Amino acid sequence: MPNHPDVMEKLVSLAKRRGFIFQSSEIYGGTGSVWDYGPLGVELKRNLKDRWWHAMVRARNDIEGLDAAILMHPRVWEASGHVSGFVDPLVDCRNCKKRFRADDPRVKGTPGTPDAQCPACGMKGTLSEARQFNLMFKTFMGPVEDSASVVYLRPETAQGIYVNFLNVQQSTRQKVPFGIAQIGKAFRNEITPGNFIFRTREFEQMEMQFFVEPGTDMKWFEYWKEQRMDWHRSLGLAEHRLQFHEHTKEELAHYARAAFDVQFDFGGTLGFQEIEGVHNRGDFDLSQHQQSSGKKLEYFDQPNNRRYLPYVVETSVGADRTALAVLVNGYREEAVEGESEGRTVLGLHPSIAPIKAGVFPLVKKDGMPEMAHRIADDLRQTLPVFYDDSGAIGRRYRRQDEVGTPFGITIDGESLTNATVTVRDRDTLKQERVEAGQLKDFLTRKLTT
Ligand code: GAP
Repeated sequence: MPNHPDVMEKLVSLAKRRGFIFQSSEIYGGTGSVWDYGPLGVELKRNLKDRWWHAMVRARNDIEGLDAAILMHPRVWEASGHVSGFVDPLVDCRNCKKRFRADDPRVKGTPGTPDAQCPACGMKGTLSEARQFNLMFKTFMGPVEDSASVVYLRPETAQGIYVNFLNVQQSTRQKVPFGIAQIGKAFRNEITPGNFIFRTREFEQMEMQFFVEPGTDMKWFEYWKEQRMDWHRSLGLAEHRLQFHEHTKEELAHYARAAFDVQFDFGGTLGFQEIEGVHNRGDFDLSQHQQSSGKKLEYFDQPNNRRYLPYVVETSVGADRTALAVLVNGYREEAVEGESEGRTVLGLHPSIAPIKAGVFPLVKKDGMPEMAHRIADDLRQTLPVFYDDSGAIGRRYRRQDEVGTPFGITIDGESLTNATVTVRDRDTLKQERVEAGQLKDFLTRKLTT
């Protein structure tokens, strides 16, 4: 079922209905390929980012965190190669005004010649010659809109790390090999965005640059490949939906010496697609910035009394694309034994589920709502929980299944006499009785194993 081609359509509708993701500026007809995260979506994405930050920064002593600004000196993007190299070839149709990538397989013939055919309106000879289109968004700094004040919205967060390499290294006294990690927004004026939050014009990246001694770079590259694949597995992404893809020479970005993508099978028309890139960037970025700024960016290797520019192994994963992967991975529709109606479940890993437990009084009387409120209010100080007393209990379970809540706590008649509650597991549907006073420990244990 998860591979069903219309899973994406179902997810878009569920995401809107249940408050995960809304189209940006929807009341104005929406902004092209920009999305807003609603109450449940923001929790899901934050949980993903927290897991990444924990694994990459807090749980290690060789990676430091950073939060660099989105707006950087315009020369950063000249030095990084993005002004000249971050381009896609683009063609316009003079008849229907649509735009395509020149390498779109649907474009037949050579653009700019009479035999070229527009894939949208089907007219021949109306496609312009291919021209290079830069994917960076431009804006202006200060009140005057002239070329001297042009700045770019960063298309990757990595450059904020390179320009701060020595600031971080010297302030923390880290020794190579070590890394710098950050999470932040990136912007790309994509020509062919789409597939919900898969390819958008504003997105969040979680990037880490690991600085190593030249010559040890391929060893670290292999290490990081494996580490990052393990991280994706730890989110509960199914093994058969994950694979590596090695970049061919033609696919390599302008900065990369070697690159592997971690790919996830989104099913339907998308199939296997990149969710993370692991790149060996050599000393490309540091040497470009050193040359362009005129400032030495060399690392001083004290024991060997030697200065050198470290090589960089980069891991770069999209928070939004990972959010889409866990939604696609978790979505399922299934029959329920003994019930005529089936259920929709988001089988999210408990650690990333937006709500950890639903709290339900079996009926709205006999003191059950009061006890349920007390339990919910108490748990809420530690875990996100949701109190619900409206409708039949089965319906309330279903509503939580659909948003991935791993546990359902029910306060019933017995609860009032012996202070126990039932805890229902979203996936197995098994219920166990737990002492109300032990609930916090019980749930915390379940959520961390
Ligand atoms: N610093 C290297 C870099 O930016 P990339 O392969 O261009 O590498 C890394 O991007 C990750 O960022 C991708 O694997 C993807 O998860 C995410 N990403 C890139 N472009 C995106 C877009 N337009 N929308 C959503 N996520 C995107």
